[in-house]
Amino acid sequence: MAKRNESQIRSSSSRESPNENNLDNQEHNDNNGVYPFPHDDNEIDRLHSQHYYLRMIWQNNFSVPIKQQLIEGGMKVLDIGTGSGIWILEMASEYPLTTFKGIDVHQLFPTDCSPKNSEFIQCDVLEGIPFEDETFDFVHVRDLVPAFTQDQWENVLLREALRVCKIGGWIQFMEWDPIFINEGPNIKKFSDSIIEFSKSKQGNLMIPEKIDDHLLSTKKFSSVIHEHKYCPTGSWGGTLGKMGLNDFMQATEAIKSNFSNFLNMSLQEYEQFVQDCVQDFEETRTYTKTHRYYGQKISN
Ligand SMILES: C[S@@+](CC[C@H](N)C(=O)[O-])C[C@H]1O[C@@H](n2cnc3c(N)ncnc32)[C@H](O)[C@@H]1O
Repeated sequence: MAKRNESQIRSSSSRESPNENNLDNQEHNDNNGVYPFPHDDNEIDRLHSQHYYLRMIWQNNFSVPIKQQLIEGGMKVLDIGTGSGIWILEMASEYPLTTFKGIDVHQLFPTDCSPKNSEFIQCDVLEGIPFEDETFDFVHVRDLVPAFTQDQWENVLLREALRVCKIGGWIQFMEWDPIFINEGPNIKKFSDSIIEFSKSKQGNLMIPEKIDDHLLSTKKFSSVIHEHKYCPTGSWGGTLGKMGLNDFMQATEAIKSNFSNFLNMSLQEYEQFVQDCVQDFEETRTYTKTHRYYGQKISN
């Protein structure tokens, strides 16, 4: 992958204001439509809520064992596909002596009020990550499986993440499992269909179950650690379950236009389908699952 220099990065003055960006979902697709989510104000809210949900599930923002080094400072951290930038904003505030960079193809991240030790850059990962080889001590990737085709994920995102990570540095991937636990019939239909929807755009939502294999096959790790957490979805599951339900409602709303077309449903039928899924959550006490995979890069 060709490296780009800083002058090739779109400057922040080219920012698309989220307010000017409230387009119909049909117009929001990226990478020829593989990524189904929009890039508007509602998406910033969705990503913020999802961040707090994930932090509540995991009780932290990362698993890699470098907390002390982050406190002591001098470390460089990259968040790829940073979205609203919320992970960077929290991490940069918590670790003021470490430097944080967030990159994303869309400017949902803040441009005027981030901690001094953080910077956001608008760029397309598919054109190469605009940093030299071995720049970062920690490369963080969260919830990017829906944004890339299988080929892009393996041959661009993973390779680029590894390229910019130092030898001795750490990489963490965190992804949702598309398959729910204790599925009722509607949730099963939802889960099967969302996997097919992604496949129809050359995506593969099943990548998360194989991230350790992908990382190990690069031969750049001696070991990869896999952690996962189950989280209740639905008001039966208390505060966490309600946050999960809210996440589901926000996500299904965000992809409503494209996904209802794929399902061959009218918007009204789609809304009813979402309500049926919500009923399933309560009746079968559904859980979702999230994964973290991380390892230390040992060679180039
Ligand atoms: C589901 S969001 C996750 C955001 C963030 N990582 C988080 O967990 O809150 C996926 C992000 O990937 C970004 N993205 C999609 N394709 C990209 C590309 N080719 N280069 C850079 N970012 C991309 C989208 O703009 C979106 O912000």
